[in-house]
This record gives sequence, C-alpha cells and structure tokens, in this order.
Amino acid sequence: MSICMMIRRFMRHHSSIVSARTSVKDLFNYREKRQALVYGWIRSVRKHKKVTFLDINDGSSATNLQVVLPTEKFSTNFTYGASIGIEGELVPRIGKTPEVEFLGENLIHHTECDSSSYPFASEWNYPNEFVRQYPHLRPRQRTVASMLRVRSKIEMLIHEFFRSKDFTHVHTPAITSSDCEGAGELFAVTPNSVSSDNSRNDNEQFFGSSANLTVSGQLHLEACAMGLGHVYTLSPAFRAEKSRPKTHLCEFHMLEVELAFTKCLEDLKSILEASVKHVISQTLKLCADDLSVFYEGDGSQSHYDTVKKCAVEPFLCIEYSEAVDIINSNLKLIKTGAMKWGDDLNDEHERFLTTYHNDSPIFVQNFPSLIKPFYALSNDDGETSASFDLLVPKCGEMAGGTVREHRYDVLHGKLEGLGLTEQYKWYCDLRRFGGVPHGGFGLGFDRLVKFVLGINNIRDAVPFPRAPKFCML
Ligand code: 4AD
Ligand code: MG
Repeated sequence: MSICMMIRRFMRHHSSIVSARTSVKDLFNYREKRQALVYGWIRSVRKHKKVTFLDINDGSSATNLQVVLPTEKFSTNFTYGASIGIEGELVPRIGKTPEVEFLGENLIHHTECDSSSYPFASEWNYPNEFVRQYPHLRPRQRTVASMLRVRSKIEMLIHEFFRSKDFTHVHTPAITSSDCEGAGELFAVTPNSVSSDNSRNDNEQFFGSSANLTVSGQLHLEACAMGLGHVYTLSPAFRAEKSRPKTHLCEFHMLEVELAFTKCLEDLKSILEASVKHVISQTLKLCADDLSVFYEGDGSQSHYDTVKKCAVEPFLCIEYSEAVDIINSNLKLIKTGAMKWGDDLNDEHERFLTTYHNDSPIFVQNFPSLIKPFYALSNDDGETSASFDLLVPKCGEMAGGTVREHRYDVLHGKLEGLGLTEQYKWYCDLRRFGGVPHGGFGLGFDRLVKFVLGINNIRDAVPFPRAPKFCML
C-alpha cells in the first residue's frame, strides 16, 4: 500500500480530528454539532467533582466560549490567564446565551500562567490606573480587548466613508520642518548622537534644518489637495502638552480632511457631520457585543442614549458670540467664571455648552481671528475667522476646522507680521501657483473612540498611551 493510500485510510478512520483552528467568533455562528479545534486564554475556571467548566476567549469576540471537560480525564491545573488548545465537539445549548458550548476531548496545547506572579487573578473590575501599569498584558483584559476591536472597526469605517466619497487617502509625514499650529508644543527630532539644540546651524543638523514630530498633517494635506481635490489622512500627531490628562495625549491619531474648491464652512461641517454619523451608526450596529462590555453597568445607559442620538439627530450650530453670551448668562453653573469676547472656550465651557443644548453635539463657529491659527480665512467683519469647533457631550472639543486663507496677499501679510515668511514660502506658493479656495478639519480619533465607548480617560481609549511622565514600553 502506498504512503498516500495509508494516509487517506488513516484520515477516514480519524475523520473526527480537525487540524485547522476555528475562532470562537466563528464557532458562535454554528447551531448544530460539529468537531472543532479551538485555542484561547482561560478567563475563568469552575472545577467540580465530575465536570470542569472553562470560559475561554481567543480575542475574536467579547463573549467567552464555555468549554466543558470531564474532571477525571484532565489532571491539568487550569488557571486564569493560561492558554489552551483543545479538540472537541461543539454542541447546542438550548435556551442559553451563547447558544453553544464546547465539549473538550483532547488537550493539545497548554501554557501555564503563574498565578503567584501574574498581576490579574480574574477578568473583572481592575481599576484602569492599575491595568495601565501593565501595558504588555493589557490587551488581554476584557474591556481593553473590546476597545481595541472597536477602534479597529472605527478606523475601517472612516476609510469606508471617505473612499465612498472619492477622497484620496494620503500618508502625511511624521517628521516635518513646519509647525502647523504655531503653538510651540513640538517634540524635536534629532539622532541621539547629536544634541537636540535647535539653535545649531543648518550644516550641523541631521536634516539640514530643525525638524520635529508633526502636530498636524494639515499643511501637507493642503499641498496634496491642490493636486488631488479631496484628500484625507488618518495619521499620528505629537504634541508636548502637559495639561488636561483626561483628554490630551502626547501621541494621538487625527483624521484630517481637506476639500479643494470650497469657500464655505457649511461644506466642511456637513462632511464632518455625515462622517461622524456614519461611523457611530455603523459601530452601534456592528460592534454590539463589544459595546455591551462598556454599557452593561447601571448609569451607563444615558451616555449610550446620547451616542445613539448623535447618529440620527442633526448637530446644532451656534456662533462664537452666542456661546459667550450663554456662558455669561449661566455663571451660577460655571465654576471657572465669566469670559470676555476674544477668550477661548475652556474645557468646562465646552462641556457646559453641550449639556445646555440637551446633550447634543454642537458646532461653535466664527471664532475671533486672534484665537485661531494664521492659516484661517479672515471673515469680512475683520475680527472673526471662518472657523468652527465640534463639541460633543462629556468630551468637549472633538474636531476643529477652518476655511483656509487662500488669498496670497492676505496670507503673506499675516506671515510677515509673525516674521514667518521665509519658513512658509512654500505654503504661500500653494496660493501663488494656481491656488483655489479650500478648507478642512481635524478630528481627534482617540476622542471619538472615547466618546463612543463612554470612556472617562483618553488613556483608556488607546493601546499604548503616551503622556507626560508616562511612556511605558
Ligand atoms: O484643533 P486642532 O489642534 O486642529 C488642528 O490640528 C488642525 N490643523 C486640523 C485641521 O484642520 N486639519 O486638533 C484637531 C483635533 C482636536 O479637535 C482634538 O479632537 C484632537 O485633534 N486633539 C487631540 N487629541 C488628543 N490629544 C491631544 N493632545 C490633542 N490635540 C488635539
Ligand atoms: Mg482645536
């Protein structure tokens, strides 16, 4: 008998053995009995005299698979956090959720997890601050895994939306010689063999000029919009910001969108609103299992309703001047006190404005020119700029945008006043050589995830948070 025939005969006799792994998520799609091989990490162990129950999870689903083992047959000491691979039979469980369980037959993989030194003893209720101390073990935590799956889905939905509208995705650079926001919150980039002293002359500097990590891809995106029309990027941005730890990170992701051939804030607001609505409504639909991890406790329902409302109801819009009036007429409810026309909204003002408007997302538009960057188009009143911020309940500012100053002379004049004409010569060229009216916005991707999941601290909405005095791994 040939070897091939022997293998075929062996396979016929052992047809119940399955060699390919099936994910837990895929197993939940079956309702009839079937042989399978499943891998996962143990999330709980309940050992009885006759049977042992293991809840296992392989990262494909927020819901665990229950594995049932005859206690007598398996002498292994199963503990929380260990990994196993097991062959067996998937069987229906009538009237239970999930509707299947797994009868384990052969243990083919087991790597222990030493419970005397593993920092987690069960999957429930560790304070986020504690979990953050173990960034390498954090993705195994139930809420963190759900957050990461939702983050991944939200990123996919953003691409889906902008591709469907024929925007071109551009990789804007992480290292740049420009300071887009002009706010001076830059991280310098130098090889570690060279001092980071930016006062060195150009020949001594690695890039031949000072370089920093980007605070925003906007200026590069504008260059691309002047050749491609509508463009966007979903890239990391870096800011050396020391304050506001719950909403600010030193490394965050930003969706930035730039539209050519527009002079009008309405175009920018409507594409932003449509994209946020698409992302939220689809996330609620496609990630229900993961969302339930965040919205299972008492008291979480009201934020869930707020998020749901955001997917359907129109966003409101007020002028900056109206915002100042609202704040100043409600000083009893505002700890930080009155504001003058010309002041920027602080975090408390932003949150108050959404509460005041019935927990709706709200655009505030036409800010004083002096509190918006040099690139914002000046309005005809000479005092305000064609700008907006999008505020969302409990989170505050989620996005900001402007129509860009497309008039060469006006832009050049502003840069002259700031002593920046040399540095931004290339940026003025975009207006000099066939420039067109255009505008765009940036949306904090991590703040969107934070909002959708009702997360309190932005550090719990990212896989590896970077913040002052916090850069683990
Ligand atoms: O309002 P910002 O600073 O706007 C810009 O950077 C523009 N150049 C964008 C553009 O028009 N292309 O930042 C945009 C958004 C903010 O509304 C906020 O949601 C988020 O980025 N953001 C941060 N998110 C986390 N951590 C930080 N340190 C952030 N700084 C801004
Ligand atoms: Mg802003």
